[in-house]
Amino acid sequence: ELVMVVLGIETSCDETGIALYDSHNGLLADALYSQIDMHTEYGGVVPELASRDHIQRVLPLIKEVLDQVGLQREDIEAVAYTRGPGLIGALMVGACIGRSLAWAWGVPCVGVHHMEGHLLAPMLEDNPPEFPFLALLVSGGHTQLVHVGGIGQYRLLGESVDDAAGEAFDKVAAMLDLGYPGGPKVSKLAEQGTKGRFRFPRPMCDRPGLDFSFSGLKTFTLNTVAKCREERGDFTDQDRADVARAFEEAVVDTLAFKCRRALRETGLKQLVIAGGVSANRRLREGLESMVAKEKATLRYARPEFCTDNGAMIAYAGCQRLLAGQLEPLEVAPQPRWPM
Ligand code: KG4
Ligand code: ZN
Repeated sequence: ELVMVVLGIETSCDETGIALYDSHNGLLADALYSQIDMHTEYGGVVPELASRDHIQRVLPLIKEVLDQVGLQREDIEAVAYTRGPGLIGALMVGACIGRSLAWAWGVPCVGVHHMEGHLLAPMLEDNPPEFPFLALLVSGGHTQLVHVGGIGQYRLLGESVDDAAGEAFDKVAAMLDLGYPGGPKVSKLAEQGTKGRFRFPRPMCDRPGLDFSFSGLKTFTLNTVAKCREERGDFTDQDRADVARAFEEAVVDTLAFKCRRALRETGLKQLVIAGGVSANRRLREGLESMVAKEKATLRYARPEFCTDNGAMIAYAGCQRLLAGQLEPLEVAPQPRWPM
Protein backbone atom coordinates (compact mmCIF):
# COMPACT_ATOMS: atom_id res chain seq x y z
CA GLU A 1 0.00 0.00 0.00
CA LEU A 2 1.24 3.43 -0.99
CA VAL A 3 1.66 5.75 1.99
CA MET A 4 1.91 9.45 1.41
CA VAL A 5 2.10 12.70 3.37
CA VAL A 6 0.30 15.41 1.43
CA LEU A 7 0.48 19.16 1.98
CA GLY A 8 -2.88 20.83 1.24
CA ILE A 9 -3.17 24.50 0.24
CA GLU A 10 -6.54 26.29 0.09
CA THR A 11 -6.67 29.90 -1.12
CA SER A 12 -9.84 30.15 -3.21
CA CYS A 13 -11.53 32.95 -1.30
CA ASP A 14 -10.95 34.67 2.05
CA GLU A 15 -9.31 31.97 4.15
CA THR A 16 -5.80 30.63 3.86
CA GLY A 17 -6.00 26.96 4.84
CA ILE A 18 -2.98 24.67 5.13
CA ALA A 19 -2.90 21.04 6.28
CA LEU A 20 -0.88 17.85 6.29
CA TYR A 21 -2.71 14.62 5.56
CA ASP A 22 -1.12 11.20 5.87
CA SER A 23 -2.77 8.46 3.80
CA HIS A 24 -2.00 5.97 6.55
CA ASN A 25 -2.43 7.93 9.78
CA GLY A 26 -5.03 10.47 8.72
CA LEU A 27 -4.93 14.20 9.34
CA LEU A 28 -1.67 15.26 10.98
CA ALA A 29 -2.03 19.03 11.29
CA ASP A 30 -4.03 21.94 10.01
CA ALA A 31 -3.98 25.70 10.30
CA LEU A 32 -6.27 28.43 9.08
CA TYR A 33 -5.96 32.15 8.73
CA SER A 34 -9.27 33.91 8.14
CA GLN A 35 -9.24 37.32 6.46
CA ILE A 36 -12.78 38.10 7.62
CA ASP A 37 -11.74 41.03 9.85
CA MET A 38 -9.96 42.66 6.92
CA HIS A 39 -12.99 42.38 4.58
CA THR A 40 -15.68 43.21 7.14
CA GLU A 41 -15.44 46.96 6.75
CA TYR A 42 -16.18 46.58 3.03
CA GLY A 43 -19.21 44.35 3.65
CA GLY A 44 -17.77 41.52 1.56
CA VAL A 45 -14.59 40.01 0.14
CA VAL A 46 -12.34 42.45 -1.76
CA PRO A 47 -10.53 40.20 -4.27
CA GLU A 48 -7.34 42.24 -4.55
CA LEU A 49 -6.88 42.42 -0.79
CA ALA A 50 -7.57 38.69 -0.55
CA SER A 51 -4.79 37.76 -3.00
CA ARG A 52 -2.26 39.97 -1.29
CA ASP A 53 -3.06 38.55 2.11
CA HIS A 54 -2.81 34.94 0.88
CA ILE A 55 0.70 35.71 -0.38
CA GLN A 56 1.71 36.86 3.09
CA ARG A 57 0.12 33.95 4.95
CA VAL A 58 0.82 30.80 2.96
CA LEU A 59 4.49 30.19 3.77
CA PRO A 60 4.28 31.00 7.52
CA LEU A 61 1.26 28.69 7.79
CA ILE A 62 3.11 25.86 6.03
CA LYS A 63 5.90 26.29 8.55
CA GLU A 64 3.33 26.29 11.32
CA VAL A 65 1.75 22.95 10.33
CA LEU A 66 5.18 21.33 10.00
CA ASP A 67 6.11 22.63 13.46
CA GLN A 68 2.82 21.38 14.93
CA VAL A 69 3.93 17.80 14.31
CA GLY A 70 7.71 18.20 14.26
CA LEU A 71 8.08 17.37 10.57
CA GLN A 72 10.55 18.80 8.04
CA ARG A 73 9.75 19.83 4.51
CA GLU A 74 11.58 16.68 3.36
CA ASP A 75 8.72 14.70 4.93
CA ILE A 76 6.20 16.16 2.49
CA GLU A 77 5.67 13.66 -0.33
CA ALA A 78 3.09 15.49 -2.42
CA VAL A 79 1.36 18.84 -2.72
CA ALA A 80 -2.34 19.53 -3.35
CA TYR A 81 -3.70 23.01 -3.97
CA THR A 82 -7.17 24.37 -4.80
CA ARG A 83 -7.28 24.81 -8.55
CA GLY A 84 -10.79 26.31 -8.65
CA PRO A 85 -13.48 27.49 -8.63
CA GLY A 86 -12.86 30.75 -6.78
CA LEU A 87 -11.36 34.21 -7.10
CA ILE A 88 -8.73 34.17 -9.84
CA GLY A 89 -6.09 36.18 -7.96
CA ALA A 90 -6.55 34.18 -4.78
CA LEU A 91 -6.40 30.88 -6.68
CA MET A 92 -3.27 32.04 -8.48
CA VAL A 93 -1.43 32.40 -5.16
CA GLY A 94 -2.13 28.83 -4.05
CA ALA A 95 -1.45 27.42 -7.51
CA CYS A 96 1.89 29.22 -7.92
CA ILE A 97 3.15 28.43 -4.45
CA GLY A 98 1.92 24.84 -4.52
CA ARG A 99 3.39 24.11 -7.95
CA SER A 100 6.67 25.85 -7.17
CA LEU A 101 7.21 24.04 -3.89
CA ALA A 102 6.39 20.68 -5.48
CA TRP A 103 8.79 21.39 -8.30
CA ALA A 104 11.56 22.53 -5.94
CA TRP A 105 11.06 19.53 -3.68
CA GLY A 106 10.71 17.10 -6.57
CA VAL A 107 7.35 15.72 -5.43
CA PRO A 108 4.05 15.22 -7.27
CA CYS A 109 1.45 17.93 -7.29
CA VAL A 110 -2.29 17.95 -7.96
CA GLY A 111 -4.86 20.72 -8.41
CA VAL A 112 -8.05 19.95 -6.48
CA HIS A 113 -11.61 21.04 -7.19
CA HIS A 114 -12.74 23.16 -4.24
CA MET A 115 -16.20 21.56 -4.17
CA GLU A 116 -14.73 18.06 -4.29
CA GLY A 117 -12.76 19.13 -1.22
CA HIS A 118 -15.96 20.17 0.56
CA LEU A 119 -17.73 17.02 -0.60
CA LEU A 120 -15.05 14.77 0.87
CA ALA A 121 -14.47 16.69 4.12
CA PRO A 122 -16.87 14.44 6.10
CA MET A 123 -14.50 11.56 5.26
CA LEU A 124 -12.04 13.10 7.73
CA GLU A 125 -14.39 12.33 10.64
CA ASP A 126 -14.81 9.14 12.66
CA ASN A 127 -17.42 6.81 11.23
CA PRO A 128 -17.13 8.27 7.70
CA PRO A 129 -19.80 7.74 5.03
CA GLU A 130 -19.39 4.84 2.62
CA PHE A 131 -19.83 5.05 -1.15
CA PRO A 132 -22.32 5.39 -2.69
CA PHE A 133 -24.06 8.29 -0.96
CA LEU A 134 -26.13 11.37 -1.64
CA ALA A 135 -24.37 14.69 -1.02
CA LEU A 136 -25.89 18.09 -0.46
CA LEU A 137 -23.27 20.75 -1.15
CA VAL A 138 -24.28 24.05 0.39
CA SER A 139 -21.73 26.85 0.32
CA GLY A 140 -21.52 30.52 -0.55
CA GLY A 141 -21.31 29.78 -4.27
CA HIS A 142 -23.03 26.40 -4.74
CA THR A 143 -26.17 24.52 -3.80
CA GLN A 144 -26.03 21.08 -5.38
CA LEU A 145 -27.34 17.57 -4.91
CA VAL A 146 -24.79 15.03 -6.07
CA HIS A 147 -24.83 11.25 -6.43
CA VAL A 148 -21.41 10.17 -5.20
CA GLY A 149 -20.36 6.73 -6.46
CA GLY A 150 -16.72 6.98 -5.38
CA ILE A 151 -13.73 9.31 -5.64
CA GLY A 152 -14.21 11.22 -8.89
CA GLN A 153 -17.61 9.65 -9.59
CA TYR A 154 -19.97 12.56 -9.19
CA ARG A 155 -23.34 12.87 -10.88
CA LEU A 156 -25.17 16.18 -10.50
CA LEU A 157 -28.83 15.56 -9.63
CA GLY A 158 -29.94 19.13 -9.07
CA GLU A 159 -28.68 22.60 -8.25
CA SER A 160 -29.74 26.17 -7.62
CA VAL A 161 -31.00 27.98 -10.69
CA ASP A 162 -30.01 31.31 -9.11
CA ASP A 163 -28.46 32.18 -5.71
CA ALA A 164 -26.67 29.62 -3.55
CA ALA A 165 -28.08 28.98 -0.07
CA GLY A 166 -25.06 30.59 1.61
CA GLU A 167 -25.32 33.61 -0.66
CA ALA A 168 -28.97 34.02 0.41
CA PHE A 169 -27.90 33.89 4.08
CA ASP A 170 -25.28 36.56 3.38
CA LYS A 171 -27.73 38.83 1.57
CA VAL A 172 -30.38 38.50 4.27
CA ALA A 173 -27.71 39.29 6.85
CA ALA A 174 -26.93 42.50 4.97
CA MET A 175 -30.65 43.43 4.95
CA LEU A 176 -30.77 42.92 8.71
CA ASP A 177 -27.56 44.97 9.18
CA LEU A 178 -25.70 41.99 10.54
CA GLY A 179 -22.55 42.30 8.45
CA TYR A 180 -20.37 39.78 6.67
CA PRO A 181 -20.25 36.75 6.60
CA GLY A 182 -23.91 36.45 7.29
CA GLY A 183 -24.71 32.78 7.75
CA PRO A 184 -23.60 32.33 11.35
CA LYS A 185 -25.01 35.75 12.32
CA VAL A 186 -28.47 35.14 10.86
CA SER A 187 -28.47 31.76 12.55
CA LYS A 188 -27.55 33.18 15.94
CA LEU A 189 -30.16 35.92 15.73
CA ALA A 190 -32.81 33.40 14.62
CA GLU A 191 -32.50 31.71 18.02
CA GLN A 192 -34.24 34.74 19.52
CA GLY A 193 -36.93 34.66 16.86
CA THR A 194 -40.60 33.86 17.47
CA LYS A 195 -41.69 30.68 15.75
CA GLY A 196 -44.59 31.15 13.35
CA ARG A 197 -44.74 34.94 13.33
CA PHE A 198 -43.80 35.10 9.65
CA ARG A 199 -44.26 32.37 7.11
CA PHE A 200 -41.81 32.46 4.19
CA PRO A 201 -42.30 30.46 0.97
CA ARG A 202 -40.59 27.10 0.29
CA PRO A 203 -39.36 27.81 -3.26
CA MET A 204 -39.82 25.14 -5.95
CA CYS A 205 -41.20 22.54 -3.56
CA ASP A 206 -44.48 22.50 -5.48
CA ARG A 207 -42.90 21.14 -8.65
CA PRO A 208 -40.98 18.03 -9.61
CA GLY A 209 -37.21 17.86 -9.83
CA LEU A 210 -34.24 18.46 -7.59
CA ASP A 211 -33.33 22.04 -8.45
CA PHE A 212 -33.40 24.94 -6.00
CA SER A 213 -34.04 28.66 -6.16
CA PHE A 214 -33.17 31.06 -3.36
CA SER A 215 -33.34 34.50 -4.91
CA GLY A 216 -37.12 34.76 -4.33
CA LEU A 217 -36.61 34.26 -0.60
CA LYS A 218 -34.29 37.21 -0.62
CA THR A 219 -36.96 39.43 -2.20
CA PHE A 220 -39.57 38.06 0.19
CA THR A 221 -37.32 39.00 3.11
CA LEU A 222 -36.82 42.50 1.76
CA ASN A 223 -40.59 42.96 1.34
CA THR A 224 -41.29 41.65 4.83
CA VAL A 225 -38.84 44.13 6.34
CA ALA A 226 -40.36 47.00 4.32
CA LYS A 227 -43.91 46.04 5.31
CA CYS A 228 -42.96 45.84 8.97
CA ARG A 229 -41.44 49.33 8.81
CA GLU A 230 -44.44 50.74 6.99
CA GLU A 231 -47.08 49.26 9.29
CA ARG A 232 -45.47 50.23 12.55
CA GLY A 233 -42.98 52.89 11.57
CA ASP A 234 -40.27 50.83 13.23
CA PHE A 235 -38.16 47.71 12.80
CA THR A 236 -37.20 46.42 16.22
CA ASP A 237 -34.58 43.87 17.28
CA GLN A 238 -37.40 41.40 17.86
CA ASP A 239 -38.69 41.97 14.30
CA ARG A 240 -35.18 41.31 13.05
CA ALA A 241 -34.92 38.07 14.95
CA ASP A 242 -38.37 36.95 13.78
CA VAL A 243 -37.42 37.58 10.15
CA ALA A 244 -34.12 35.71 10.59
CA ARG A 245 -35.97 32.76 12.09
CA ALA A 246 -38.59 32.61 9.33
CA PHE A 247 -35.89 32.84 6.65
CA GLU A 248 -33.76 30.12 8.20
CA GLU A 249 -36.77 27.84 8.62
CA ALA A 250 -37.72 28.28 4.97
CA VAL A 251 -34.19 27.43 3.80
CA VAL A 252 -33.94 24.39 6.06
CA ASP A 253 -37.39 23.09 5.09
CA THR A 254 -36.65 23.53 1.41
CA LEU A 255 -33.30 21.77 1.59
CA ALA A 256 -34.78 18.93 3.66
CA PHE A 257 -37.67 18.53 1.21
CA LYS A 258 -35.36 18.19 -1.78
CA CYS A 259 -32.95 15.88 0.07
CA ARG A 260 -35.83 13.59 0.99
CA ARG A 261 -37.00 13.50 -2.61
CA ALA A 262 -33.45 12.73 -3.79
CA LEU A 263 -33.07 9.91 -1.24
CA ARG A 264 -36.35 8.39 -2.39
CA GLU A 265 -35.58 8.77 -6.09
CA THR A 266 -32.07 7.31 -5.86
CA GLY A 267 -32.76 4.71 -3.18
CA LEU A 268 -29.63 5.89 -1.36
CA LYS A 269 -29.63 5.56 2.43
CA GLN A 270 -26.82 7.93 3.38
CA LEU A 271 -27.00 11.69 3.17
CA VAL A 272 -23.81 13.73 3.48
CA ILE A 273 -23.91 17.51 3.84
CA ALA A 274 -20.89 19.68 3.18
CA GLY A 275 -19.87 23.31 2.61
CA GLY A 276 -20.26 26.36 4.85
CA VAL A 277 -24.02 26.12 5.36
CA SER A 278 -23.69 22.52 6.58
CA ALA A 279 -22.34 24.05 9.81
CA ASN A 280 -25.85 25.41 10.43
CA ARG A 281 -27.35 23.89 13.57
CA ARG A 282 -30.96 24.07 12.47
CA LEU A 283 -30.14 22.51 9.11
CA ARG A 284 -28.44 19.61 10.86
CA GLU A 285 -31.42 19.15 13.18
CA GLY A 286 -33.95 19.40 10.36
CA LEU A 287 -32.09 16.84 8.27
CA GLU A 288 -31.54 14.51 11.25
CA SER A 289 -35.27 14.25 11.80
CA MET A 290 -35.92 13.83 8.06
CA VAL A 291 -33.40 10.98 7.64
CA ALA A 292 -34.69 9.25 10.77
CA LYS A 293 -38.11 8.97 9.15
CA GLU A 294 -36.53 7.76 5.88
CA LYS A 295 -34.42 5.16 7.75
CA ALA A 296 -31.32 6.81 6.36
CA THR A 297 -28.25 8.33 8.01
CA LEU A 298 -26.75 11.81 8.04
CA ARG A 299 -23.05 12.64 8.08
CA TYR A 300 -21.21 15.97 8.20
CA ALA A 301 -17.83 17.38 9.08
CA ARG A 302 -16.92 19.25 12.28
CA PRO A 303 -17.91 22.94 11.88
CA GLU A 304 -14.39 24.16 11.03
CA PHE A 305 -14.19 21.62 8.18
CA CYS A 306 -17.61 22.68 6.80
CA THR A 307 -16.26 26.10 5.86
CA ASP A 308 -13.09 26.52 3.78
CA ASN A 309 -10.02 24.73 5.12
CA GLY A 310 -6.77 23.10 4.01
CA ALA A 311 -7.57 19.65 5.41
CA MET A 312 -10.24 18.92 2.80
CA ILE A 313 -7.82 19.87 0.00
CA ALA A 314 -5.01 17.72 1.41
CA TYR A 315 -7.46 14.81 1.75
CA ALA A 316 -9.01 15.14 -1.71
CA GLY A 317 -5.56 15.60 -3.30
CA CYS A 318 -4.27 12.53 -1.53
CA GLN A 319 -7.16 10.41 -2.83
CA ARG A 320 -6.58 11.69 -6.35
CA LEU A 321 -2.85 10.96 -6.18
CA LEU A 322 -3.44 7.48 -4.76
CA ALA A 323 -5.75 6.89 -7.71
CA GLY A 324 -2.83 7.77 -9.99
CA GLN A 325 -3.88 11.21 -11.10
CA LEU A 326 -1.01 13.50 -11.98
CA GLU A 327 -0.91 16.64 -14.04
CA PRO A 328 1.40 18.64 -16.27
CA LEU A 329 3.72 21.27 -14.81
CA GLU A 330 1.59 24.23 -15.78
CA VAL A 331 0.06 26.79 -13.45
CA ALA A 332 -3.54 27.03 -14.60
CA PRO A 333 -6.09 27.96 -11.97
CA GLN A 334 -9.70 27.67 -13.09
CA PRO A 335 -11.93 30.38 -11.59
CA ARG A 336 -14.91 28.65 -13.24
CA TRP A 337 -14.81 24.88 -13.23
CA PRO A 338 -17.74 22.46 -13.25
CA MET A 339 -17.14 19.46 -11.02
O1 KG4 B 1 -17.93 26.69 2.03
P1 KG4 B 1 -17.73 28.11 2.40
O2 KG4 B 1 -16.85 28.42 3.56
O3 KG4 B 1 -17.15 28.91 1.19
C1 KG4 B 1 -17.56 28.70 -0.12
O4 KG4 B 1 -17.01 27.79 -0.78
O5 KG4 B 1 -18.50 29.43 -0.53
O6 KG4 B 1 -19.18 28.71 2.62
C2 KG4 B 1 -19.37 30.01 3.04
C3 KG4 B 1 -20.86 30.24 3.16
C4 KG4 B 1 -21.19 31.70 3.45
O7 KG4 B 1 -22.24 32.08 2.60
C5 KG4 B 1 -21.64 31.67 4.90
O8 KG4 B 1 -22.58 32.68 5.21
C6 KG4 B 1 -22.25 30.29 5.01
O9 KG4 B 1 -21.41 29.47 4.24
N1 KG4 B 1 -22.29 29.80 6.40
C7 KG4 B 1 -23.41 29.55 7.09
C8 KG4 B 1 -23.02 29.15 8.38
N2 KG4 B 1 -21.65 29.15 8.42
C9 KG4 B 1 -21.23 29.55 7.20
N3 KG4 B 1 -24.70 29.65 6.73
C10 KG4 B 1 -25.62 29.32 7.64
N4 KG4 B 1 -25.34 28.94 8.91
C11 KG4 B 1 -24.05 28.83 9.32
N5 KG4 B 1 -23.78 28.46 10.58
ZN1 ZN C 1 -15.80 26.71 0.14
